[in-house]
Amino acid sequence: MAKHNADLLIVQAGELLTCRGPAEGLRGEALRQTDIIADGAVAVGGGRILALGSSAEVAKSWSAPTVLDATGRLVTPGFVDPHSHLLFGGTRHEEYEAKVTQRAPARRLDGGIRFTVSRTRQTSDAALVKQAMSDLDTMLLHGTTTLEAKTGYALDREGELRLLRLTAGLRHAVDVVPTFLPLHVLPEGYDDRRKEYIDAAVASLQAASGLAKYCDVSCDPLCFTYDECLRVGNAARALGMKVRLHADQHGDARGGLAAAALSASGADHLDYTTDEGFRAMAEAGTVATFLPGVTLHLCEMTPRFAGSALEGAEKPFLPMVVRRALEAGVVAALSTDYNPGSCPTPSMQMVMALAARLFRLGYAEIWNMCTLNAARALDLSHDRGSIEAGKRADLVIWNVANHGMVINRFGVNLADTVIANGSIKVQHGRLAS
Ligand code: NIG
Ligand code: FE
Repeated sequence: MAKHNADLLIVQAGELLTCRGPAEGLRGEALRQTDIIADGAVAVGGGRILALGSSAEVAKSWSAPTVLDATGRLVTPGFVDPHSHLLFGGTRHEEYEAKVTQRAPARRLDGGIRFTVSRTRQTSDAALVKQAMSDLDTMLLHGTTTLEAKTGYALDREGELRLLRLTAGLRHAVDVVPTFLPLHVLPEGYDDRRKEYIDAAVASLQAASGLAKYCDVSCDPLCFTYDECLRVGNAARALGMKVRLHADQHGDARGGLAAAALSASGADHLDYTTDEGFRAMAEAGTVATFLPGVTLHLCEMTPRFAGSALEGAEKPFLPMVVRRALEAGVVAALSTDYNPGSCPTPSMQMVMALAARLFRLGYAEIWNMCTLNAARALDLSHDRGSIEAGKRADLVIWNVANHGMVINRFGVNLADTVIANGSIKVQHGRLAS
């Protein structure tokens, strides 16, 4: 029998972890399951997955000019990272040391963001793009093949649209999904002019709608109210944009309920979201994305120093918050929230390591939350997030034999080969030229 032609075969994977499931995402018992093909193989062609199965089955029907031998190795889908702030100027490493050592009073969220806003405004287009491309290289090297990227560090019409144009123009092997974030925090000088700022944000949506898939609004006691978020979110929807939220990071601002009321694709952070909020999200089909890198970086798993800016505002116990969300039937995902202030790691491997240690999630839950469910958070689960025939060929061959080891070992990059849209982009842990 004549064989079909593929561009690329991966054969003899020790574990082929498919992460497949329904397009609405995995929840309940299904979230705790892994779908593994032992001695697995994948055929890739035209940027798509053509077939998968045991090596013997795939070898019977497919041949290709390039064959990658994955003997003894884990093969998985590429990561989908559904929350990042990719474009920003400057760093906040000095503020960070002052914060952890208590040498200076910690800035509140809005103060930190305003600092990055001032640096971003001073940074040229070319410098912002250069840094973003370098960060995307790092993400790709660590196994990320799709990234959501928000604006939010300009906080004025022209600046936000500049960040959006630059984001939408990025051409990289990591597929970038642009989000417009006009309601991040209130910019300096607007404390008595909130309505004026919100009016301007609404007015900027028309121009943004041609460039961004999503409009993001921060529904948080330190950011914007439920009503303000609904106003901007509904205006974005009227223009055909989808909506996502930063919700309830510093207190219950009814962010989960706002997300449901806006039929949002995703709501992220959710540290203080109530059961009612999670139930509403489950009903509305809003994905909950949890961000353990933020928990680590903001030192929220250890008690706060007396006298710190947020003294007394003890965090809910996050493993319980995540469990409450899962029990409410929410589809849940994980993400870096890559940004200079609350989470400067670009690595989804790091996020996995932290999800186990800080949120007490199991290996299957974590893998499903970083692949299929994360794709669902970006309305892309019909197209990627799992190894299934017809989906985008975004694949990682790992330097370990099984999926648990990627989470158990931490602090080193374990990705060996990364295939994005059917092309080998990383080999032996290095960018392919
Ligand atoms: O996702 N509303 C929260 N905003 C960011 C914080 C970014 C920063 O500190 O610069 C977040 O954690
Ligand atoms: Fe964020």
